[in-house]
Amino acid sequence: MEFQKINDQLLSEFKAIVGDEFVYTNREVLEQNSRDYTEDLRFYPDVVVRPSNAEEISLLLKICNQARVPVTPRGAGTGLSGGALPVFGGLVIATDRFNKIIKIDERNLQAIVEPGVINQVFQNAVMEKGLFYPPDPASRGSCFLGGNLAESAGGPKAVKYGVTKDYVLNCEVVLPTGEIIWTGANVLKNSTGYNLTQLLIGSEGTLGIITKIVFKLLPLPTENLLMLVPFFSAEKACEAVSAIFRAGLTPSGLEFMERDCLVYVMKHVDVKIPLKDEINAHLLIEVDGNDRDVLFKECEKISEILYQYECDEVLFADTAQQKADLWRARRSAGEAVKSHSIYKEEDTVVPRAELAVLLKGVKAIGAKYGFRSVCYGHAGDGNLHVNIIKEEISDEDWNTKVPLGIREIFELCVSLGGTISGEHGIGYVQKGYMDIAFNKTQMDLMKGIKDLFDPNGILNPGKIFL
Ligand code: LAC
Ligand code: ZN
Repeated sequence: MEFQKINDQLLSEFKAIVGDEFVYTNREVLEQNSRDYTEDLRFYPDVVVRPSNAEEISLLLKICNQARVPVTPRGAGTGLSGGALPVFGGLVIATDRFNKIIKIDERNLQAIVEPGVINQVFQNAVMEKGLFYPPDPASRGSCFLGGNLAESAGGPKAVKYGVTKDYVLNCEVVLPTGEIIWTGANVLKNSTGYNLTQLLIGSEGTLGIITKIVFKLLPLPTENLLMLVPFFSAEKACEAVSAIFRAGLTPSGLEFMERDCLVYVMKHVDVKIPLKDEINAHLLIEVDGNDRDVLFKECEKISEILYQYECDEVLFADTAQQKADLWRARRSAGEAVKSHSIYKEEDTVVPRAELAVLLKGVKAIGAKYGFRSVCYGHAGDGNLHVNIIKEEISDEDWNTKVPLGIREIFELCVSLGGTISGEHGIGYVQKGYMDIAFNKTQMDLMKGIKDLFDPNGILNPGKIFL
């Protein structure tokens, strides 16, 4: 790809558009924008800008498109596939000034927000009105809604309520050529032409920059119960998961954590969870609704099923504090593993009932290629985060041998009817594995879409496609 460097002329044009004080070339800001939460990767942009409205982004993109300057949109930088990394340098467009909740429409149970609103800030704002925005990635305390759309983020609630894409009705997008469009309509049903809204969601900032989002909301469930279930066998824990759904029950959270995951978590955050020597995994199971008695009955039924899979004693979280602690433990799993060792995280996903086969396969592949993995994730969705930890592995093996093992893990996923990312996206780090999930015809279709939106390939280059 032939890109141009940002020269003084372009720099002064950027300044004229967004104002001098929102254009950055100093080392500190470039460093902050050189990384996200993906492994230990670093790519420095040449310039960072912080516009505040779609018109400014439109002008910036027009100029960059004409001059062939690579542009990387950036939210909070909490992504796990390198989506926000400016791998060709150039301009980073930060969206943190797009931080307004424009409207919470209680009549229609909808909201219009800007993409730089933090997920949990939005959840809390709608909660105050008795409403519910379920998608809750582990990073919800800091991640931006725009990034959630870009990566089609999930989270523990997805098992009952769906992922980000299931809540987006419409969005305003600036195209790489500078046009500003709306992708759909603010309606719950829409069979009008191609679904541009869903095309943009999960496009990882390669097709356009989202500047407004219309979400649908739900009424807020008033009650929930949470239980932590220790298992002697991690595979049995995985087998129990699909049995719960087959019995007609749909928990609002069904998370899996391997023993080592909890060990690292307890070193990382101040939460104490009893962990007997012979326990190898836990399920964290939440049910929600509006009737406590119904929920207790559901928990009883779930427990009966779990005991058939040889679990140890089921532990109930009795207080709000205990619930918060358990969720904090689960949500900090990624950071806890990261603080233990450099790691590569694979976001595997298979049909739910194949989870135990996947886990067993991951361990066998690790033994074959000489790596250890710590697994946890959204078991109810068949979505297992496989954290391959570097520890004593040599740099050479890490860069050559381990990727062969990862390839085998992804091949296993696809052979089980799954795919290579459930909720973290392809971004920079998984693009070399796309051939496992898609053949040439499929990839050509995707590339054709990319070319149509972005004929000069300036928007988030180096992502999704090799
Ligand atoms: C989680 C992130 C890594 O589930 O997706 O913790
Ligand atoms: Zn996750």
